[in-house]
Amino acid sequence: MKKAQNHTTYDEMFAKGGKDDPYQLPYWLSCYYPMYLAVLDEIKSNGCSSVFEIGCGTGGLAHLLKDRHPIEYRGVDFSSVAIEKAVKRTNNPDAFFVADALSPELYQNTESTIICTEVLEHIPQDLKLVELWPAGTYCICSVPNYDSQYHERFFKEETEIISRYGHLIEINKIKRIKKPILENIAKSNLLRHLRWNRYRPKRLLELLGFGDFDEVGGWFVFSGKRRSTENEE
Ligand SMILES: C[S@@+](CC[C@H](N)C(=O)[O-])C[C@H]1O[C@@H](n2cnc3c(N)ncnc32)[C@H](O)[C@@H]1O
Repeated sequence: MKKAQNHTTYDEMFAKGGKDDPYQLPYWLSCYYPMYLAVLDEIKSNGCSSVFEIGCGTGGLAHLLKDRHPIEYRGVDFSSVAIEKAVKRTNNPDAFFVADALSPELYQNTESTIICTEVLEHIPQDLKLVELWPAGTYCICSVPNYDSQYHERFFKEETEIISRYGHLIEINKIKRIKKPILENIAKSNLLRHLRWNRYRPKRLLELLGFGDFDEVGGWFVFSGKRRSTENEE
């Protein structure tokens, strides 16, 4: 059964944490790291000059940008616990604020790029959210290919993404990123799991990154310009 989510659900989840929680780990040890790297590639190849991250969570991507590609950055999330952690992680209190991403007044600034990873699938009114993004803004988003009690929807093929978001975003690229099997991708953790699974060849291959995208799960990272309102259906 789908679980309704509001900021309290996320506050509780982020407060609980846990040693292998990918949202508490340093970004380079989190299973989200390959997806963040795909976003970074996209930012670089498009020469994006400034970023507004919607649903920035605990700031993993913001931290990676700070370390590897310093850029003008603003991040919003409706979980105050997530924002506290993002501020602590990046030591940049001015970059983050707490608000509901569905508030139209958030979109008055003129950042060149909106980033929205692993958020759209959690929001029943995802299309309403994208509609708020200013025309001409470059958008980099990710959505999963697997279901969860927290997902309103998920996608199996690129065509499904185009048919849901294509009238709002002029999608020019969709990249498949496999999700690592382990939430904590530290080498020591991988070695431990390789040892434990030494008699399970399929699992060993999956741990080494040779699993099938549909079976092990992953993300579609897609990007393109927000269309002007005249083109919306
Ligand atoms: C699965 S997490 C993804 C976090 C981050 N984008 C990442 O990829 O690491 C989803 C995030 O979206 C936030 N979120 C969900 N609905 C939101 C809304 N309506 N307004 C603001 N933030 C929202 C949650 O609080 C949570 O931090």
